Amino acid sequence: MIYPISKIRLDFPILNKKINNNKLIYFDNAASSLKPNYVIEREMNYYKYEYAAVHRGIHTLSREATNKVEQVRCKIANFINAKQTEEIIFTKGTTESINLVAYSWGRKFLHPGDNIIITEMEHHANIVPWQILAKEKKLFIKYVPLLPNGTLDLSQLTSLINNNTRLFAITAASNVLGIINPIKDIINQVKNISNSLVLVDGAQCVMHQKIDVQLLNCDFYVFSGHKMYGPTGIGILYGKKYLLDSMSPWETGGAMIKNVSLTKETTFNQVPWKFEAGSPNTAGIIGLGAAIDYIKSIGLQQIILHEKLLTKYAFDVLNNIPNIKIYGSIKYNRISVISFNLGTHHAYDIGSLLDIYGIAVRTGHQCALPIMNYFKVSSMCRISLAMYNDYFEIDKLVDILTKINKILPLK
Ligand SMILES: Cc1ncc(COP(=O)(O)O)c(C=O)c1O
Repeated sequence: MIYPISKIRLDFPILNKKINNNKLIYFDNAASSLKPNYVIEREMNYYKYEYAAVHRGIHTLSREATNKVEQVRCKIANFINAKQTEEIIFTKGTTESINLVAYSWGRKFLHPGDNIIITEMEHHANIVPWQILAKEKKLFIKYVPLLPNGTLDLSQLTSLINNNTRLFAITAASNVLGIINPIKDIINQVKNISNSLVLVDGAQCVMHQKIDVQLLNCDFYVFSGHKMYGPTGIGILYGKKYLLDSMSPWETGGAMIKNVSLTKETTFNQVPWKFEAGSPNTAGIIGLGAAIDYIKSIGLQQIILHEKLLTKYAFDVLNNIPNIKIYGSIKYNRISVISFNLGTHHAYDIGSLLDIYGIAVRTGHQCALPIMNYFKVSSMCRISLAMYNDYFEIDKLVDILTKINKILPLK
C-alpha cells in the first residue's frame, strides 16, 4: 500500500504556513508534533457544543462530558494494552507523570540507603525528580553509562543492581540520540535479579512503536499527548493497579476524595480519580482521544515504516555533508531523531540560519545535559521526523546545510 503522504499533509493546516517567505518545514516533532484538523476540530466542537465540568454534575451535559472523558481513558488503555482502564491516570504530561510517581510512590515506599537506577541518556524529566527525592530520602542514584555509539552499556546492568535497588527508571528511546533501548530485555533482566520496579519514559517512543505494557511487564509507563499529534497539557501515567492502589495521593483537593469532614480524617477516592485532583483538562483529554483515532485511521505501522525509511534516507544524505558530526549510530534500532553539529559552530547559529529558510529544528541542550557533557558539546541541532515529513524536505535541509557550510567559515 502506498503511504498517502500528500493526503496526510493536507490534514495539518499549519504546514501551509510560510516562514520568512519559505514553506514551513517542521523538523521539531520530538519537542512537539503538529496537530491535524481532526484533533483541532474535535477539541473545538467539544468547547462549542459539549462542554461541561466532569465528575461533578447530574445535568445532561456534565454526564455526557464525563462519559466522553472516561471513554478516552478506555481508548488509551486499549492503545497501550493496559489490563484495566483504572490503570490510566490523566496528568499534564510525561514530566508530571514522573513527578507523580516520585512524589507518591517514592516518598511512601523508599527509605535511606535505597537505590534508584537511571541512565546517562535520560531527559531531565527523568533525572531531576529522582535527584530531589534522593536528597530528601537519602537514597543513592546509579547511572547506566553511555557508549560512544549512543547506546547504553548494558553489560553494567547486573553490577549496578543489588538488594537495595527499588526502582529502575529508563527512557524507551533517547530524545537526542534516537536510539531505542531494548526495553523488554532490560525489564526481564532487572526483574530476574531483583524486586525493583521499572518505570519507562515513553515520551519519545509511544508514537514510533506499538506499546504493550503487559508484554513489557513495566510497572509504570509515562507519555505526553502533544508529542503524538494531540493537545498540550495532557499526558498519561500508566501504573499497575496494585501499585496505584498502594500509593497515596499527591495533589489533593476536589474530586479525589471519598469523604471530607472538619472533624475526621479525609478519605480518598479509588484509582484513577485518587490521582486527579481538581478540574481536569477535559478538552485536552477529548483531543488526545481524537489523536489516537486519527493515528489509527492512518495506521501506526504505516507511520512507523514511513518514518523508518525517511530517517534512513536522512541519515545517509546528511552523513555526506562535509563537517557534519551525527551523534548516535544508524546501526541500531532508532526513532526518527537525528542530532548533529556542523563543524564547531554553535547549534543556535545553524538553527537560526535554517529558520531563515523556514526549517524548524531543535537547538540547544535538548533537556539532556548529561548527554551533552558526555559528547563534550554545549548544544546540538536535532531533526525529528513525523508522519507528514517527506523526502523533498530532507533534500532541502541538505541543500541549506551545504550552503551554510560555505557561508560560515570553519572555526
Ligand atoms: C524522553 C523525554 N522524556 C520526557 C520529556 C518531557 O515531556 P513533557 O515536556 O511533555 O512533559 C521529553 C520531552 O521532550 C522527552 O523527550
